[in-house]
Amino acid sequence: MNIQSMKLIFLGPPGAGKGTISKMAAERLGVPQISTGDMFRTAVKEKTELGLRVQAILAAGGLVPDELTIAIIRERLSWPDVRQSYILDGFPRTIPQAEALAAFSSPDAAVDFEVRDDLILFRLTGRRVCRACGAIYHAVTKPPKVDGICDLCGGELYTRNDDREETVKARLRAYHEETEPLIGYYAGKGRLLTIDGSPDAETVYTTFISEIGRFLKK
Ligand code: AP5
Ligand code: MG
Ligand code: ZN
Repeated sequence: MNIQSMKLIFLGPPGAGKGTISKMAAERLGVPQISTGDMFRTAVKEKTELGLRVQAILAAGGLVPDELTIAIIRERLSWPDVRQSYILDGFPRTIPQAEALAAFSSPDAAVDFEVRDDLILFRLTGRRVCRACGAIYHAVTKPPKVDGICDLCGGELYTRNDDREETVKARLRAYHEETEPLIGYYAGKGRLLTIDGSPDAETVYTTFISEIGRFLKK
């Protein structure tokens, strides 16, 4: 696929595959993936001022305040690598975030990956992530070649501390209350692409690529 410009938002509940599909697009198309969740987790790990502020919120499965999240994305979108293309993985997540984004960038489409709640729990409790490079695995659907070790870089795989069942339920509640209204928001602008996120990742990616073209400028 030859693209000039592709500015996308990835919507969808926790475990929908936003990280998985955006990393495939980053590798195959060179589109930068920007994950607010990854940025917050890095801040927590490095114990920065931001990290200390958001640590408890992430651990409880709540949402980080809009002002903080918007400021981070506004700054990141000023870098030269995202002038033509980006995938925002996990931002915006509230209507005020979407309205703020519209004031400093114009996304071509919001892609909503639909996955049922029962499949989400299976995906998240089996997820393993590489501590070194961030590659995403699953104990059943995408196991590493060697248990506990990243295929790509040899790094150690870990379980995110918000992937425990109680925290997943809190994240799902936050999703249904705060984030789901964005589906109607982008549909109303004629910018919503809905993709079935439940088949295997390769099928989801292929469907996404075959459908997204109609939202992009020629
Ligand atoms: P974030 O890191 O964005 O978490 P999330 O939205 O809950 O989404 P996940 O990363 O859990 O799921 P995903 O859709 O990326 O799925 P993945 O590809 O990994 O946010 C974390 C926290 O940060 C939030 O709770 C909040 O506190 C804060 N935050 C972040 N952004 C914010 C914002 N804008 N405003 C306020 N707060 C914010 O896949 C999951 C698993 O399933 C993996 O194991 C994978 O291998 C497997 N899998 C994926 N796709 C498939 C498939 N098609 N078939 C089989 N298995 C699959
Ligand atoms: Mg993710
Ligand atoms: Zn790795």
